[in-house]
Amino acid sequence: MAPRSLFVPALTLLSSIFTSSVTAQLYSECNPLNRTDCPANPAFGTDWEFIFNETQPDGVWNTTAGTVEYDPETGAAFTISKQGESPTLMTNFYFFFGRTEVFLKAAPGTGIVSSIVWSSDTLDEVDWEFLGGNSSFASTNYFGKGIQDFHNAGYHEIPGGVQDNYVNYTCTWTKEKLEWWADGALVRTLKAEDANNTLNYPQTPMKLSIGIWAGGDPSMPAGTRAWAGGDTNYDEVPFTMYVKSARVEDYSSGKEYVYGDKSGSWESIKIVSGNSTAYENLHKEPEKTLSEKWAELPSSTKAGVYAASGGVAALLFIALAFYYFKQRSAGQKEAAALAAQQEQDRVELERFTKGGNPNYQDYEAMKGGMGAAAGYHDSPPASSAGPPEKTWDPTNNTPGSPTVPSNAAMPLLHDRRESLTTGALGAGEHGHPTR
Ligand SMILES: *[C@@H]1O[C@H](CO)[C@@H](O)[C@H](O)[C@H]1NC(C)=O
Ligand SMILES: *[C@@H]1O[C@H](CO)[C@@H](O)[C@H](O)[C@H]1NC(C)=O
Ligand SMILES: *[C@@H]1O[C@H](CO)[C@@H](O)[C@H](O)[C@H]1NC(C)=O
Ligand SMILES: *[C@@H]1O[C@H](CO)[C@@H](O)[C@H](O)[C@H]1NC(C)=O
Ligand SMILES: *[C@@H]1O[C@H](CO)[C@@H](O)[C@H](O)[C@H]1NC(C)=O
Ligand SMILES: *[C@@H]1O[C@H](CO)[C@@H](O)[C@H](O)[C@H]1NC(C)=O
Ligand SMILES: *[C@@H]1O[C@H](CO)[C@@H](O)[C@H](O)[C@H]1NC(C)=O
Repeated sequence: MAPRSLFVPALTLLSSIFTSSVTAQLYSECNPLNRTDCPANPAFGTDWEFIFNETQPDGVWNTTAGTVEYDPETGAAFTISKQGESPTLMTNFYFFFGRTEVFLKAAPGTGIVSSIVWSSDTLDEVDWEFLGGNSSFASTNYFGKGIQDFHNAGYHEIPGGVQDNYVNYTCTWTKEKLEWWADGALVRTLKAEDANNTLNYPQTPMKLSIGIWAGGDPSMPAGTRAWAGGDTNYDEVPFTMYVKSARVEDYSSGKEYVYGDKSGSWESIKIVSGNSTAYENLHKEPEKTLSEKWAELPSSTKAGVYAASGGVAALLFIALAFYYFKQRSAGQKEAAALAAQQEQDRVELERFTKGGNPNYQDYEAMKGGMGAAAGYHDSPPASSAGPPEKTWDPTNNTPGSPTVPSNAAMPLLHDRRESLTTGALGAGEHGHPTR
């Protein structure tokens, strides 16, 4: 008989792996069942489809372990190419009742686990898991307040299999019930009252994680390896899970979710109103290119730039004219010649200022740090057109763009072994494979 369940909630396992990474997972470390001073959960408060054909907008997803590659054809690729890797994406927002819709093609490989996990700070959890050694079945699971109940797992045959196609794995979640859907077929329903009379029903704000890990790693507890379908053979790498898209809909709208007491019940959650940071990040104007910035400058400012450059040329011209004037006698002829010269210079000046409009070469010059070009466009001096109404600094043309956080260090096997001791104890205490 197949093992019924993982011995510890998947996220507990994942977070124990994460503890070896450089950034501490403060949010998951503060359990509101025990404490009243936990930080608020940043909300999502919106509905958004993330298409993983390209790098994702800043400030929405955290790559909590390893590296995720984005590809226009395959979507996000989560690859285990050697022992110790477990690339994972996690939202840095929470949804409070809602829906996720993930198009996923599971990874092959004995012991390799592809997963879609919702998790809350109280360790409520809702899962889809795909074992690399079983290409026809998906498993579903849930945990309420981190309580392990070995009857919670479900197994569902997916027509067409889980490794050859992208399947639409959707979960919908209200305070009354949870539903798991695969390609439009309802495969499982959990009513709140059926989860230990609502006590073990997932009901607190959730983050979404999508990741791949090796449950069959030799360092894993025996029970986990058995559950995962056996030991992973790293001679068969790479093992890759692909995710085309993830749509997340928060049924609540607000800026933050705050636990009002230690009950872990949905009634205790307070919704702070406002737009969420994630909402703001998603609706932020994309960073403008220099030519777009130029194009939208008010014409008076552009005139200022032209006038300024013209001003320099005019000064040169006057100096030159004075020189000619001094050198030659001030006869009528000379005056006429000078007038002609003046006209020619004016025409040239005009051409020059038109050429002063920033163009591609100018950007290249600026990017190359050519001071003259940069200085020319940088801060046009005050002119008859008035001071520039808008200026910019070409050496720093991405103001306010947050620095891209370097990915968390990959979990080191050494640390991982250590942290997994918890898992081993957990399995020993609570469980035994039901085979
Ligand atoms: C609450 O804290 C106690 C002692 O600090 C600990 O034993 C227990 O596991 C904690 N419970 C949860 C749900 O975190
Ligand atoms: C990704 O998909 C979006 C929506 O279909 C599209 O607008 C965008 O150009 C695509 N990006 C790439 C790199 O293919
Ligand atoms: C995501 O990463 C940022 C920056 O490292 C961190 O401040 C934040 O706590 C992380 N969010 C989650 C939900 O882990
Ligand atoms: C896949 O999982 C299902 C459900 O646990 C099980 O009945 C089936 O035998 C498994 N198939 C393989 C190849 O392990
Ligand atoms: C994915 O499945 C859900 C549940 O059946 C459905 O509501 C949704 O429309 C599907 N998404 C797409 C893009 O077909
Ligand atoms: C169900 O809830 C009761 C308290 O109402 C608790 O004693 C029991 O341990 C719970 N069972 C499980 C499987 O969590
Ligand atoms: C939320 O965003 C909308 C649309 O961007 C805006 O109209 C509204 O003023 C914002 N609300 C707050 C409280 O910032």
